[in-house]
Amino acid sequence: MISSIKTICKHTVHPFPARMAPTIVWDSLKKYGRKQLTILDPMAGSGTTLVVARSKGHIAYGVDRDPLAVIIARTWCGDVNKEKLLSKATEVLERAQKTAKVLTSKSAYPCCADDETKNFVRYWFDLRNRKQLAGLSKHISLVRDQNLRIFLWTAFSRMIITKKYGVSLAMDVSHSRPHRVCNKAPVTAFEIFIKAAEKIVKGNPFSGVKHKQPKAKIVCGDSRKLDYKDNFFDLVITSPPYLNAIDYLRGHRLSLVWMKNSIVKLRKLRATNIGAESKGVAPEESHIMNAVEEAGDVESLPNRERGFLIRYALDMDSVCCEIARVIKPGGNVIFVTGDSTLKGVFIKNSQVIKRLSEHHGLELATMEERDLPDKHRYLPPPSNTGAGKQLQVRMHKEVILTMRKAS
Ligand SMILES: C[S@@+](CC[C@H](N)C(=O)[O-])C[C@H]1O[C@@H](n2cnc3c(N)ncnc32)[C@H](O)[C@@H]1O
Repeated sequence: MISSIKTICKHTVHPFPARMAPTIVWDSLKKYGRKQLTILDPMAGSGTTLVVARSKGHIAYGVDRDPLAVIIARTWCGDVNKEKLLSKATEVLERAQKTAKVLTSKSAYPCCADDETKNFVRYWFDLRNRKQLAGLSKHISLVRDQNLRIFLWTAFSRMIITKKYGVSLAMDVSHSRPHRVCNKAPVTAFEIFIKAAEKIVKGNPFSGVKHKQPKAKIVCGDSRKLDYKDNFFDLVITSPPYLNAIDYLRGHRLSLVWMKNSIVKLRKLRATNIGAESKGVAPEESHIMNAVEEAGDVESLPNRERGFLIRYALDMDSVCCEIARVIKPGGNVIFVTGDSTLKGVFIKNSQVIKRLSEHHGLELATMEERDLPDKHRYLPPPSNTGAGKQLQVRMHKEVILTMRKAS
């Protein structure tokens, strides 16, 4: 068993904005001693809950709607044999180099891309990297071993989703707001592909040794409609998206288009994600509007932003209902969340989640606040003066809400 949280905190397999602190999961699990638990994260992101749960010998289940998050989480939580992975990466690279030689500016695109997707790819990638990425993506998709294929996709993606520069023409893709900054990328995919695969092996805490821990089960799905039986999980630990916060798919599109996802498909996914800027209509159920009213000074919000908040509460209501259904009686549900500002109005996401989960039969066990380091913030900071300064203080906190289903 992996004995130290340091192993998990030190490396990851792929950048992911607003990752949850692994220590929150680690400390929560300490309270359960050696009993093996069945644990769910229904909005798993990069898989922090799952990797910590698995490393402690628990049975971990994860769900996320973002296909790239699922690939990253499966890579972080999966087993890999270093030699096998690097040998497959070398084979893929050699084949891709041959393919790239015969590609032209008209054919250097992801497989089956439509016109809109091709325009997107032309905007974000220069021709040299288009050819190289087209070659690599073709040969990764032909790898038969599903586990190796997933690891290779993560290596592929981490060349694009980078903190500084990578193989696209953008900077800061990993913070989800990519900006096109050059006409020629400073590195090429063929130069850094093997290095990317090596970094993944380094970031995976289960690589190299045969592990006895049960494998994590991670699927693409929707936390508003979970595909699990009633009363199935001992524990849920999750950090839901904030209202109006990170638009994960905006940056992730740059990788996902190479994995046979069209821009149309990704646009639909983005618009229907929790926390997206799309409006909801006030529902008849009074508990949802009560939760909205308690979120803050809602009257001061313009109609459009009020609509976003209603939509967020509607979505989180479905999530809380599903979580309350799948957690065992007596089981804990830990929500790690922070607060948002909408048009200068402070919105208590944690209060919305607390109220909605109470409606679905969960009781408040504890509510703790924790300082949030700047690099873990989910939103750009508000201004440094006046009301902005007060908000800064409040938004540097995250709330750990533990709810319990009555036995
Ligand atoms: C704050 S992040 C989770 C970060 C994660 N705890 C980690 O440490 O990496 C929220 C996640 O919720 C996912 N999400 C948003 N709407 C969802 C939905 N309806 N069903 C499942 N996941 C969803 C997003 O794709 C994102 O990965």
